[in-house]
Amino acid sequence: MLDYDAEARDYDASRGGEPRARVAAAAVERLLPVGARVVLDVACGTGIVTARLLRPGRTVLGADRSPGMLRLAARRLPGAVLCADAAQLPLRAGSVDAVLLVWLLHLLPDAAPVLAEARRVLRPGGVLVTTADKNDAYFTAPSDLAEATAALRRRHAPRATDAADLLTARATALGLRPVGETSFPGLGQGRSPRAWREAAERGRLPWCREPAELAATVRALAALPDQDAPRPDPRYRLLAFRG
Ligand SMILES: C[S@@+](CC[C@H](N)C(=O)[O-])C[C@H]1O[C@@H](n2cnc3c(N)ncnc32)[C@H](O)[C@@H]1O
Repeated sequence: MLDYDAEARDYDASRGGEPRARVAAAAVERLLPVGARVVLDVACGTGIVTARLLRPGRTVLGADRSPGMLRLAARRLPGAVLCADAAQLPLRAGSVDAVLLVWLLHLLPDAAPVLAEARRVLRPGGVLVTTADKNDAYFTAPSDLAEATAALRRRHAPRATDAADLLTARATALGLRPVGETSFPGLGQGRSPRAWREAAERGRLPWCREPAELAATVRALAALPDQDAPRPDPRYRLLAFRG
């Protein structure tokens, strides 16, 4: 996983900034229970999405384990941030109306402890909202880049910890039932073949861990036309489960 303390300063600008936060928060809001009064954003990062969920009569809390990210979140959510691991939240059982996990589960070796903790703090009837299939988001729209890397991704990508079917099975086992789904665009986040090659070479792509996989990916990307033209923006999935 990235060092988010080191990443904090550039995080917002490099992840789509306010335009991404606006569409992400609007998508989350569509899945929140009507009248949600206490909303907990777990792995809130800099709070750029979290703060957009503030409404009159609603308490919005942010939790994250990176002090560097939380320092920025505290400016947006004064007095409402918690430094905590997502699998061990300092909150009472059944105390929140909604738990959000935006861009967290794909980073973890196992989503199960975090889902169980989210379930614990949710009140009966509360809603868990989570992103799913994050690493596939760049390839859902048809493009030459998606096509050129499809076989490599299918063959070499490890099973994602935030795969929608896996999350649905785990949530169901915890007594949560699927109640909705939406998505939001990663505005301006579409990447060019050259940018993908650089990401592969920096070891950022899960399907390029071995030298042969890396070489095959770099070859496939280098063969594409318009090396510096960004391909379609990613589209991020959000799933909702009710307790
Ligand atoms: C990709 S960022 C997402 C931030 C925010 N949700 C957003 O959409 O901008 C991932 C965040 O997860 C946090 N994180 C990673 N593992 C965590 C854990 N086990 N418990 C709490 N936070 C965690 C990182 O510190 C980072 O702030």
